[in-house]
Amino acid sequence: MANKPFYITTPIYYPSDKLHIGHAYCTSLADTIARYKRLAGNDVFFLTGSDEHGQKIQRKAVELGISPKEYVDKIVASFKNLWEKLSISNDDFIRTTDQRHREVVQTIFQKIYDQGDIYKSAYEGLYCTPCETFWLERQLVDGKCPDCGRAVETVQEESYFFRMSKYQDKLLAYIEENPDFIQPVSRRNEMINFIKGGLEDLCVSRTTFDWGIPVPFDTKHVVYVWFDALVNYITAAGYLDNKNKFDKYWPADVHLVGKEIVRFHSIIWPVILMALGLEIPKMVYGHGWLVVEGDKMSKSKGNVIDPIALIDEFGADAIRYFLLREITLGNDGNFSRDALIQRINADLANDLGNLLHRTINMINRFCGGVITASSATEPIDEELIKLVKATATDYERLMDNFDLNSTIKSIWALISRANKYIDETGPWALAKDAAKKERLNTVLYNLAEVLRIVAILISPFMPNTSPRIWQQLGLSYNTKTIKLSDAQHWGLLPVETKVATPEPIFPRIEEKEQVPVLEVKPEPKVVVPETPEVTIEDFAKLDLRVVRVLAAEKVEKADKLLKLTVDLGSEQRTIVSGIAKHYLPDELVGKDVVMIVNLKPAKIRGIESRGMVLAASSGDLLKVVTAEGMPSGSKVK
Ligand code: MSP
Repeated sequence: MANKPFYITTPIYYPSDKLHIGHAYCTSLADTIARYKRLAGNDVFFLTGSDEHGQKIQRKAVELGISPKEYVDKIVASFKNLWEKLSISNDDFIRTTDQRHREVVQTIFQKIYDQGDIYKSAYEGLYCTPCETFWLERQLVDGKCPDCGRAVETVQEESYFFRMSKYQDKLLAYIEENPDFIQPVSRRNEMINFIKGGLEDLCVSRTTFDWGIPVPFDTKHVVYVWFDALVNYITAAGYLDNKNKFDKYWPADVHLVGKEIVRFHSIIWPVILMALGLEIPKMVYGHGWLVVEGDKMSKSKGNVIDPIALIDEFGADAIRYFLLREITLGNDGNFSRDALIQRINADLANDLGNLLHRTINMINRFCGGVITASSATEPIDEELIKLVKATATDYERLMDNFDLNSTIKSIWALISRANKYIDETGPWALAKDAAKKERLNTVLYNLAEVLRIVAILISPFMPNTSPRIWQQLGLSYNTKTIKLSDAQHWGLLPVETKVATPEPIFPRIEEKEQVPVLEVKPEPKVVVPETPEVTIEDFAKLDLRVVRVLAAEKVEKADKLLKLTVDLGSEQRTIVSGIAKHYLPDELVGKDVVMIVNLKPAKIRGIESRGMVLAASSGDLLKVVTAEGMPSGSKVK
């Protein structure tokens, strides 16, 4: 049977500047999903590219005194270089300046015009050039662009309009009938409300500059850059030049995009497709933003993080791991150099690196470098094997839901278990007793087998690390031919495999001096003051429970306070917590935190707070106490 096609895209990035770590986040996400789908046996088409036309780019080129094409060529080369360094496995890279794309845009524009869905009129209104977006007066926030907060310009020109209004009911019905189309659900609701507010016809051509694709029947107009850009997804799938390919991959399985451009992908794009009589993509997934120390990245703030410098310093896999581990898809996430180094040291050097190093080292020292199996198993082995099997099964479910962050947590729970297994079985003691040789072989085989499987499971996330693990295990696996089923069967590691010499895969990072990009604060010394003793009865008066955070938002005009809605299992409560300086609201949603449930209610800024979340604090540091994965309402004692 032919492999099931899977088509995934990233947004095509504007070459108005070099890409930053936020763009690297989106492309790493898409790459990991693409690699996972290949591992699971799908026939994957993974697309990224560049969105090169429009007023913003033309202005930039004029500023530099070069032609727009010269300007974009240079920046686009830097995009490709970044993706290569980050081990991005895109199958195609589309540029909107490609001839193939120009032909598709012109063909489509003509077709929609011929059928009467594009008409000529005059536009007079507001435009945000950095976002390349038309706005209505009532949509502005404090007179500024609601997306980027910058000033808008008044434009007045003859334009062609696309009859979006005609498709309003059809689009709404489509969204309502296809609950998976817009993800996550919060964005879906936003879009439904937006459409219900009324769809205006969209201005789809400009005449005040010429850096764009000419309207075929009226060449003093160029096609509006978003109309041009969205069409890239069908150009690359072969809409005009490869019918077989197009039939195979269209409709796309998922357009992965940042939250602020969900609107273009779930409103303008489906209407263009409806006008063309083409199928609508199966899903538009809006991911959150990466912020730096809680702040939006911007040149003026000087906090833009360059991914190339980070890759050069820490390696592509460590950066990919960090981004995908730290951020829950759909929520915003925080980047800090400190957190990156902590993750590398704790998860990669310590947990994964040590498991590999200890295992290979012991096989070399105690067994002459050769893995030998034995059938004698004990309950502790069974328990480990059971966890391996459960992890591999959960993996498929979590990855199919794009829950990359939980997938990583589940693999790392297995890695921790395996490290504990070493301590509990004590191979160094077994090696001293000839009568325990068989037991020693079993233990070391099990460890090597866990590593073989772990390396398969992490290969979509860390495509350069897995081959290094297999190489040390003496296996000739590679990421192109490996299959998910190889991870779903215990015992595929051949006996008599000769391992290599151990080599650390992730050396610990010792931070030598303060770094240029971000400040790393020294951890304050914790001094525990003397406090009066309490009895167990005193303690028992506190009803401590695990609660899940369902929603979080800032309390207006209070920069330290967050309003949380939490689930206690039996009820939901509102509490106000003074942790806004340490957590973004989105970071808390989904966390299982510990709360005092029977604290006297208090009114804080007019909100009745019924309970208090526990947090550890030291100097400027603060972390809420969590009990991840525990059911809401679980008692803490
Ligand atoms: N060219 C349009 C997309 C057209 S797709 C048909 C565009 N380009 S962009 O370069 O401005 O942004 C590309 C993507 O990068 C967007 O999805 C945006 O959300 C994402 N990001 C920009 N800054 C980001 C972060 N700080 N964090 C995560 N993603 C961010 O929009």
